[in-house]
Amino acid sequence: MMQPAAKCEPAMSFDPANCVRPELRQLQAYELDRSPCRFKLDQNEMPFDLPRPVKQRILAPLAARSWGTYPDFNSDHLRHVIGDSQGWPGEGVLLGNGSGELLALTVEAVTRVGQEVLGTVPSFSLYKLLALRTHAQPRFLPPRADLTMPMAELEREIELEPTRPLILCSPNNPTGEAVSVEALERLLERMAAPLLLDNAYDEFCDVDYRPLLARHRHLMIFRTLSKAWTMAAWRVGYVLADPALVTELIKVKLPYNLNFASELAAESALAASAAVQRRVRVVIGRRAQWQSMLEDLGFETFPSQTNFILARCPDRVSLDAVLEGLEAASIRVRDVSSYPGLAGCFRISVGNGVALRATRGALTEMLSSPSTFAASTVAASTVAPSTVAPSTVAPSTLVGAAR
Ligand SMILES: Cc1ncc(COP(=O)(O)O)c(C=O)c1O
Repeated sequence: MMQPAAKCEPAMSFDPANCVRPELRQLQAYELDRSPCRFKLDQNEMPFDLPRPVKQRILAPLAARSWGTYPDFNSDHLRHVIGDSQGWPGEGVLLGNGSGELLALTVEAVTRVGQEVLGTVPSFSLYKLLALRTHAQPRFLPPRADLTMPMAELEREIELEPTRPLILCSPNNPTGEAVSVEALERLLERMAAPLLLDNAYDEFCDVDYRPLLARHRHLMIFRTLSKAWTMAAWRVGYVLADPALVTELIKVKLPYNLNFASELAAESALAASAAVQRRVRVVIGRRAQWQSMLEDLGFETFPSQTNFILARCPDRVSLDAVLEGLEAASIRVRDVSSYPGLAGCFRISVGNGVALRATRGALTEMLSSPSTFAASTVAASTVAPSTVAPSTVAPSTLVGAAR
């Protein structure tokens, strides 16, 4: 019989927080407002759910299966389903509990203790944690003044020391930029280490990096079903890489890292690819409308190959007032203003038509109210936006956090 745990008093002289390594303790825990809101535009989620029949297809097999037996060790069937859909051998596909898990596993497997891991900022916050967790050093290069990714600077870094792994996000969260195949190939040609390409927003992007896989066996492409596939709740990610590399990673990953229900849900979603692709096209079409709406109201936006848009407040407008005004209208966006180069910026998911109208209405109302204007800039409305020029930022441990 299960007994209730005996009560014990903690020893006062011992701080258990100190059990964790100091470089990890100094990280900021990921925080997100999870309170209900009408328009949730802060996590790059799709403004749709999967069609009901797609959901229903998994319910009967889920109930029928014995829950007491383990699932497939490596989700081999799903690996081949994904491989077939991607034109890549199933042996070169690895599945995980979200692409985050696969990035973690790979960084750990390919990085030596104390080694530098290359990257750029601002980008997805997880990368710094992954490097530090694995006793490596993040060397993340800052953006250019126009926020484009510093590809030439990365090339030079690689030429200096080509054996450092590189994590690159393209299209990049939170800027939305996708680097060209040619620019990526120039890095690959110079590298003697794996290039981990986080391609979470691939479906919204018109650059296809897959042809590089066959030419560069050290390229790994990380994908997720959380975004375009509307499957974030099920936590399914995958990586496309050389089968020889995947064979080694399988030795390192935890067994049964994908549960049976997620496998089933993923197969059901992948079978509905035509419906999903239609919805992706709708989001891409709406992205242009969101962008024009923001630009028309005076916000600067950046070209996006994703399902979100990075926007910067006009100089005279206070970001805090904008965020508060949107929140008051039950519209939640992501404040990214503390990331390198992103002062005055927020990130907003491409929502549906109702969300677009509500956001336009809330922003229009705000911009007509004097309290929206930054106190120090009401008089001087032409102050330059505070971007961070590459030359002014030491690259070593800069981190831009975007989730
Ligand atoms: C760039 C990027 N990579 C990876 C992820 C994580 O995806 P998953 O849900 O598969 O862990 C996200 C989630 O927001 C992301 O923005």
